[in-house]
Amino acid sequence: LEVNWNMDAAMKNGFPHFMLKEIHEQPDALKNTILPRLSKGLPDFTDDQIPDDVFKDCNQVQIVACGTAMHAGMAARALMEPLLRIPVTVSIASEFRYENPLVDDKTLVIIISQSGETIDTLAALRLAKSYGSRTLSVVNVKGSTIARESDFVLYTHAGPEIAVASTKAYSVQLAALYMVCCRMALVREKYSVAEAEDFMKKLLDSIPAMEAMIEKKDMVKALVTHLINKPDAFFIGRGLDYAFSLEGALKLKEISYIHAEAYAAGELKHGTIALITQEVPVIAIATQENVFLKTISNIREVKARGAFVILLTKESMNVEPGIADIQINIPDIGDRFTVFPIAVVLQLIAYYASVGKNLDVDQPRNLAKSVTVE
Ligand code: G6P
Repeated sequence: LEVNWNMDAAMKNGFPHFMLKEIHEQPDALKNTILPRLSKGLPDFTDDQIPDDVFKDCNQVQIVACGTAMHAGMAARALMEPLLRIPVTVSIASEFRYENPLVDDKTLVIIISQSGETIDTLAALRLAKSYGSRTLSVVNVKGSTIARESDFVLYTHAGPEIAVASTKAYSVQLAALYMVCCRMALVREKYSVAEAEDFMKKLLDSIPAMEAMIEKKDMVKALVTHLINKPDAFFIGRGLDYAFSLEGALKLKEISYIHAEAYAAGELKHGTIALITQEVPVIAIATQENVFLKTISNIREVKARGAFVILLTKESMNVEPGIADIQINIPDIGDRFTVFPIAVVLQLIAYYASVGKNLDVDQPRNLAKSVTVE
């Protein structure tokens, strides 16, 4: 008798790679992270033992992280600062730890780390504590060093993430940060109860929107033929869409080895547009109503230079025919929540590009899941 399976295949649950399995696990991971902290439709951190004065008694927020976790912080910043009307800064942990940062006992320092063991992030946490700041970490691994050393911990419930390229950990970090933002807005009286309930309802709506994009995965698979033979790709967007672009470019670089740059769409003309020539793939993200037309005009600029444009937008956005070569629509959800379905699309682009190039999707060269040395 020959048993034709091994532990690895069994753990992949029928998926060819851990990354694809983990992309599929995101809707459940989001539910596991959000639902236990929902009380009467509002975010509630009583069980996490995070008192409201943590959110009230600060006059700035400093977010510190590395890699994908830092990109979750960038998206959270774009959400938080306009809403809370206090400075919200994002720093790369390896920079923060050596720059004598402007944090004090009135600063809430939010540390984001999937593993809870990244050495630079841990050093940043210790530094922030030495400046008297209150520290709140958003961590996936229970009992990790960062979780143990932080004043407060908000665990994400992604379950184990095996693929080196982070997927579900990113979306649950965002979900946790969005809930923090909502709670802060409520306790700082920027939101009424009704507004906070509406925010949480929209956050929950992003779960079926993610599922819808996972179902469209064959559409994404088909488009990577336009990427895999190209040396470079650009990701452009404005506002929140720019924050999502950063993560899209990182994912593509990490596992397909295609050089990718994320650019704030309005900044293209200050140099980068010189690199846009015939057939250069440009992944344009335009989900934010307030800057939609601005991004569309940037798309026209790259198109005029011959770029191959893949546009990611919302169903309801009014896009003239011919603007993009390929268009992928996400469902109509609130502008601030589009990151969840967009993240799925960006992850799938990177995943299928890597598969299409016959690369080691789950264990890309020279990368480690957790960087515990400097
Ligand atoms: C490594 C991983 C990334 C991760 C980063 C931060 O570079 O390859 O996927 O985003 O570390 O890891 P952390 O565990 O702190 O979130």
